[in-house]
Amino acid sequence: MEFETVATVAELPPGTGRAFVVGDQMIAVFHLADGQFRAIDDACPHQGASLAEGHVDEETVACPWHGWRFRLCNGAWADNPRLKVNAYPVRVAGDQIQVGLEPIA
Ligand code: FES
Repeated sequence: MEFETVATVAELPPGTGRAFVVGDQMIAVFHLADGQFRAIDDACPHQGASLAEGHVDEETVACPWHGWRFRLCNGAWADNPRLKVNAYPVRVAGDQIQVGLEPIA
């Protein structure tokens, strides 16, 4: 799979998230407090808020507009896993955060 560099590790401190253009889409990348990275589609399927702006609580992010929560590991809506956004693989190469261009199945 192809990966694209979005930022350096120093540019995304633990506990923060930020949206990046990856390929032709906006993807929200999160640096979790435990040091791991996660990536999901940035647009909330409810009304399109940026999920990168949401509050992260361990393995979920809460949409900043109306609080829908999505699991960062697979993009599933915490209240109804049948609804989901795409989740993407993330790797760190040297000091660079790289996001895979294809969603996790
Ligand atoms: S826009 Fe995300 S919950 Fe409404």
